[in-house]
Amino acid sequence: MKIRKAVIPVAGLGTRFLPATKTVPKELLPIVDIPAIQYVVQEAVDSGISEVIFVTGRGKDSIEDHFDEIPELEQVLEERGQKEAVQSLRQLAEMIEVVSVRQKKPLGLGHAVFCARDLVGDEPFAVLLSDDLIEAPVPCMRQLMEIFEEKKESVLALRRVPEDQVRRYGIVQ
Ligand code: UTP
Repeated sequence: MKIRKAVIPVAGLGTRFLPATKTVPKELLPIVDIPAIQYVVQEAVDSGISEVIFVTGRGKDSIEDHFDEIPELEQVLEERGQKEAVQSLRQLAEMIEVVSVRQKKPLGLGHAVFCARDLVGDEPFAVLLSDDLIEAPVPCMRQLMEIFEEKKESVLALRRVPEDQVRRYGIVQ
């Protein structure tokens, strides 16, 4: 069965980036002019995913807004002749189908993924985290999906970290 949906949990508190994340969702912190979440959604698109499910929480609505159309702004930009800017806003809004579900309390990443169960249904799905921006000629998620299609088993992407930093990262045993 093909993977069509990607769950992207974005309901965490982002405490490691305080004070920036007091009011701005961690996932919208930009790398120059592109928010981290947009890179992650782009990876999903480039991997062949056709629907993104955001698991959102309090104060995170602007993440969904980022992928919406914004006709008022487009109109102003058009009047000013800023065609390229209009084009890039349209491309962003047309990038992918977005749906969302709330995680009422930040009860952890596993719980966040569980919140998407009804939207995912009974089919294999991808999970992407907006903290992980991976530059690769073949998108990392595409590589994982290819392994899944071959093995028909869950696949995780891992990165080796220095021994003394292990406690700062998630550990897979
Ligand atoms: P992190 O482990 O980075 O947690 O979550 P966090 O809360 O965002 O950040 P810190 O550790 O406080 O700085 C990985 C991903 O899982 C989501 C986050 O939004 C992030 O994208 N997440 C985490 C949830 O959706 N819900 C949670 O309860 C926890």
